[in-house]
Amino acid sequence: MPSLLLLPGDGIGPEVIEQVRRVSGWMTAHGNFHLELAERAFGGASYDANGTPLTQEAEAAALASDAVLMGAVGGPKWAGVARGDRPEAGLLRLRKAMDAFANLRPALCFEALADASSLKREFVAGLDILIVRELTSGVYFGEPRGIETLADGSRRGVDTQVYTEAEIERVARVAFDLARGRRNKVTSAEKSNVMETGVLWRDVVTRLHARDYADVELEHMLADNAAMQLVKAPKQFDVILTDNLFGDILSDEAAMLTGSLGMLPSAALSYAGKPGLYEPVHGSAPDIAGQGLANPLAAILSFGMALRWSLDRPDLEERLSAAVRAALDAGARTRDLGGSDTTQQMGDAVLKALAAQ
Ligand code: NAD
Ligand code: IPM
Ligand code: MN
Repeated sequence: MPSLLLLPGDGIGPEVIEQVRRVSGWMTAHGNFHLELAERAFGGASYDANGTPLTQEAEAAALASDAVLMGAVGGPKWAGVARGDRPEAGLLRLRKAMDAFANLRPALCFEALADASSLKREFVAGLDILIVRELTSGVYFGEPRGIETLADGSRRGVDTQVYTEAEIERVARVAFDLARGRRNKVTSAEKSNVMETGVLWRDVVTRLHARDYADVELEHMLADNAAMQLVKAPKQFDVILTDNLFGDILSDEAAMLTGSLGMLPSAALSYAGKPGLYEPVHGSAPDIAGQGLANPLAAILSFGMALRWSLDRPDLEERLSAAVRAALDAGARTRDLGGSDTTQQMGDAVLKALAAQ
C-alpha cells in the first residue's frame, strides 16, 4: 500500500493539511484507493516538542515513505532560535536528505479566478506556467556562510552562491523534458551579467540544449527582466528554469497571477527513487493563523501532485483538479480570493464537487 507522511508544521500548516486529510479520506472511501497515512511533528512544532525542527526519526520516516506532504513551517515565535534549529532549517535539511532537487511549481490560473488576480483578466486568463526551481543547492546551501564580528566590532554577513555543472545540468534536463510535454519552450533565468554562477548556468544550459534538446525552444533571460516580464506579459512563458533563490522569488510573484499565494502547489523530486516532497508554495501565514481563514487549495493541489508523481494515481489527480475547478466555478472563495468562506468551507466545496463527479 502506498504511504504518505504528513508534516503539518506551523501556523496555517495544520489547518490546510487537515483539509488534505479530508480529501484523502474521501478518496480512500470512494476512489478504490488505499493509502497509509502517517504524521510527524515538523518545523517549529518539532522544535518545541523535541528541540530540533526535524528529528532523525522523522527524517527516516520521510525517507521510508512514498511521498511526504508538508504544510508550512516558521513564524515569529522562533525568530530568536539559532539558525540551525530554526523551522526553515529543518525544511532545508529535509529537502537535502531527500535529494529533492527539482522543484516543480505550476502557476495555473483557473478560469473562475481570472478576476481575482491583481492583474487585468486578459493578462492572466488561461495562464499555465511551470517554474522549475533548483532546490538543493545555490545560496541556500553554499559555504562559507555566517555572521562574523570584525576587529572594529562591526559585523559582516556572508552567504555563498555555488553551483556545479552537474547540479545545473540535472535540473535543466528536468525542465527540457517537461517542456516537451507542454508548449516546448524553456526560459532559463539567471544573472550571468553579474554572477559567475550565472555565467556557468547559461553555459551549461546552452550546451545541454544543443546536445540533447535542440527540438525545444530555449530562451535565456536575466532574472530581473524575468520578474518584470512575468507581470508585463506572463503568457509568453511556458517553463521557467531557474536557481534556488530566483525560483523562490519568481514563484511567489507567479502565484499572484493565479489569484493568490494560497493557490500554488509544488512537487520536489529526486528522480532517483527517493520519495517526492510536496509543499504548498506559501508559508505559515502568521497574520491569519488559527482563524480558519487560510486557503487550503495549494495544499490540496499539492496532494494532487503527489497522487500523480509519487502515488501512481494520475487519474485521481485529474479528478481532484476537476473538483477544485468545479468548487471555484460554484463560487467557493476564501478571503484571499475575495470571498468569505472558511478553510473548512473550502474543503467542503471540494468534497462536494468530488462527490458530484
Ligand atoms: P507567507 O507565505 O506565510 O504569507 C504571505 C502572505 O500571504 C500573508 O499575508 C499570508 O496571510 C498570505 N497567505 C499565505 N498563504 C495563504 C493561504 N493559504 N491562504 C490565504 N492567505 C495566505 O509568507 P511570510 O509571511 O513572508 O512568511 C511567514 C513564515 O512562513 C516565515 O517564517 C517564513 O520563513 C515561512 N515560510 C515557510 C514556507 C514553507 O513552509 N514552505 C514558505 C514561505 C514562508
Ligand atoms: C518556499 C519557502 C522556503 C524557501 C523557506 C521556508 C525555507 O519560502 O518553499 O518557497 O525559501 O525555499
Ligand atoms: Mn518561498
